[in-house]
Amino acid sequence: MAQLWGGRFTKQTDDEVFAFNESLSFDHRLFAQDIDGSVAHVVMLEKQHIITLDEKDAIVKGLTSIKNEVESGKLEFTSEYEDVHSFVEAKLIEKIGDAGKKMHTGRSRNDQVALDMKLYVRDEIVAIDSLIKKLLETILCTMENNLETYMPGFTHMQKAQPTTVAHHFGAYFEMFKRDRSRLADIYKRMNYSPIGSGAFAGTTYSLDREYTASLLGFEGATLNSMDSVSDRDYIIEFLSALSTVMMHLSRFSEEIIIWNSNEYRFVEIDDAYSTGSSIMPQKKNPDIAELVRGKTGRVYGALVSMLTTMKGIPLAYNKDMQEDKEVTFDAIDTVKDCVHLFTGMIATMKFRKDVMAKSAMMGFTNATDAADYLVKKGMPFRDAHGVIGRLVLYCIEKDCCIEQLPIEELKEICDLFDVDVYDAITLKTCVEKRLTKGAPSPEQMKKVIEIQREYLNKDVEENEK
Ligand code: ARG
Repeated sequence: MAQLWGGRFTKQTDDEVFAFNESLSFDHRLFAQDIDGSVAHVVMLEKQHIITLDEKDAIVKGLTSIKNEVESGKLEFTSEYEDVHSFVEAKLIEKIGDAGKKMHTGRSRNDQVALDMKLYVRDEIVAIDSLIKKLLETILCTMENNLETYMPGFTHMQKAQPTTVAHHFGAYFEMFKRDRSRLADIYKRMNYSPIGSGAFAGTTYSLDREYTASLLGFEGATLNSMDSVSDRDYIIEFLSALSTVMMHLSRFSEEIIIWNSNEYRFVEIDDAYSTGSSIMPQKKNPDIAELVRGKTGRVYGALVSMLTTMKGIPLAYNKDMQEDKEVTFDAIDTVKDCVHLFTGMIATMKFRKDVMAKSAMMGFTNATDAADYLVKKGMPFRDAHGVIGRLVLYCIEKDCCIEQLPIEELKEICDLFDVDVYDAITLKTCVEKRLTKGAPSPEQMKKVIEIQREYLNKDVEENEK
């Protein structure tokens, strides 16, 4: 084992203790961020005349070649190092000698790990955001292509009123759009640099923390050095936002699983996104949707784990905080896989338009519209509700839908019915007449789609800036 301390100790760390304590086996993920952070730190140290130009150049050169060697596979993360920070420092000293020993001037692993993790989460926010954006593109295309794909909308899992696939998918567009805005908020709030806070009490060197922060693309430097090293709020917020993304994906998956079931047959998941059974030859299972739904649990787990880890930690740094890494990394990997695969699944999924429309027709989803018809003929809504309720009961007994009854029979139930009722309660009319903002009529949906298109395009311009 190669350690960063020794002076105060008379014995080597016990092997099991070392293995329990180490984090290199997982924090090597922070390698690129660790190098970037160290480069910025030493550039600042030189600007402040804390190290010489030659020393800075030697360190930067050394760090760059360590980075290249790791990337090319020439240098491996071997288990004698405690964490990524000690690994990099040891390799640097091996490579450039005494100048390497100056890299850690005015810094502690506490502010260093706080920085690395922030840089990492910041990068991952951007990566996850762009995956969600691709999902939104796919949802919007589905909306554009299904303005008049009728389906029943449900409340209490009972057919309620007719809607369209465009409208239903539009609801998910809103959810994932909010997810992106949540991630953007977190990015903004967390974007302050902790480096230069030292162990927790700052340092006596004249560091220019604002300068280091600006080199690393932060909005500025954090204002309290104790908080800098012990703040993991942004990880909790991030995991909470990821949990919400998963909650949305899970709801969507649940619907797709139901729609894909033998009873519903609203959609057909593409063969490429389905799996078979080892025993039942007829089966085509929606495993991807089920796994996305299932993996939601582990992302929630990461959030609860972090909340619990943090709740009892006194200021400032405590080793408990090392526990932030594995759960966060796992949540990030899970969310990225889920968003990506889910996008492919819905992009290739087929809608059985006939089955959906028939289902909407057969479920009395036009009952509200039939009541509204009577209201337009002068009947108060509450009375109309009662009449249509009786009419539905009558239809259930006759095993038919409202529009299948001849006008004479309708008139027997209520003399306000006329032949124009048939037109008033077709699926098409029911949907087309729903013109309130946010409602499923193609006319309204087109307006919404235009707004969402603009939102996605504007985003591209902003990213290119
Ligand atoms: N591996 C540690 C972590 O992830 C790095 C910080 C160590 N600091 C310390 N004082 N032991 O939190």
